[in-house]
Amino acid sequence: MWSDPRKANPGTFSAEFLGRNMSEDEDPSMLMMDEPDHRRLRSLVSQSFTPAAVERWRDRTRDVVERVLDGIEGDEFDLIDAFAGPVPTVVIAEMLGIDPDMHDQFKTWSDVSVISAFNPFPTEEQRQASDEAYTNLWNFFDSEIAERRKNLGDDLLSDMIRAEENGDKLTVVEMIRQANLLLVAGNVTTTDLIGNGVKALLDHPDQWQTLLEDPSLINDAVEEMLRFDSPVVNSGRIANRDMEIEGCPVAKGESLSTSLAAANHDPEVYPNPTEFDVTREDTHHQSFGGGRHLCLGSHLARLEAQEAILGLMRRYPNLAHSERGFTHHAIPSFRGMSSFWVKANR
Ligand code: HEM
Repeated sequence: MWSDPRKANPGTFSAEFLGRNMSEDEDPSMLMMDEPDHRRLRSLVSQSFTPAAVERWRDRTRDVVERVLDGIEGDEFDLIDAFAGPVPTVVIAEMLGIDPDMHDQFKTWSDVSVISAFNPFPTEEQRQASDEAYTNLWNFFDSEIAERRKNLGDDLLSDMIRAEENGDKLTVVEMIRQANLLLVAGNVTTTDLIGNGVKALLDHPDQWQTLLEDPSLINDAVEEMLRFDSPVVNSGRIANRDMEIEGCPVAKGESLSTSLAAANHDPEVYPNPTEFDVTREDTHHQSFGGGRHLCLGSHLARLEAQEAILGLMRRYPNLAHSERGFTHHAIPSFRGMSSFWVKANR
């Protein structure tokens, strides 16, 4: 199957929605790239995202979580705005080696550029703001890479400069595009995982209590959160030949939408799929996709959610829903909340 929307037939979802603003002579991001280009790019960056490489960031992620928690005020707060939103952006800023003085500016550019990347119907004003943020981010990464070349460090941009496979290296444009992709692919999704995960726990106080009493369940609990309320609900591919799927004819160039969320609730695979159970034995799920494009950041997303949720529970063991409620955002394919009010009950 293909992932590059420019190969989809006109009028299909892939061509109209994903491929709309893509030019023929510019490479897409890794997410929408096909072989052999995809393999080359992915192998040049994948070393930074292995379980062992990501594990090195656990202590710093815990520090970020504590710092963000320290900044929360009041007995009621919006969990997305005050916690689930900032944690992934600050973690990725630290991983990219960005000076703490620049974090706020970086977060603003990143938020504007990421939000618009997911908005299929931006207004003219939003489009302009997003172009401006994108250009600022691009120039910023360009100068950061030039700085790192003089002084390589222990960060993702330095890793990308060092990366070499069979004598092949990343170009500056590829590094910048990759750094942008990490923001687009990693921030909203991880925010949604933390938000949906905490909501599932508050909706099921017995599960909150189970995890509070035995924090060693956190790894399985996060897998269950990913299965139960998947941050990415569907993915897609383009048929690269005429084919048939379960008796349904699919022509070359047609776009296929696969529901990861439905697969995660398949009653033939999961006993009581609508039940949220942090002690569930079978913890596998489809939330990070599969095959060649399997989420590159899955280990990082897991680590962030584990540290964020445990940190939050330690700080607020009596956390509960607030009467102010929650609102889901409206981003196609992504399921999460734009606001989620909780009560601290200190
Ligand atoms: C809960 C959080 C996350 C979820 C649910 C998620 C989900 C996914 C899914 C479903 C795909 C596959 C798309 C496809 O099959 O076409 C994917 C790809 C990808 N993800 Fe994630 N993601 C998360 C967090 C992250 C993070 C934190 C990063 C990096 C910092 C990241 C980077 C990527 C990249 C680079 C790809 C493209 C891989 C490729 O095309 O080879 N993701 N993600």
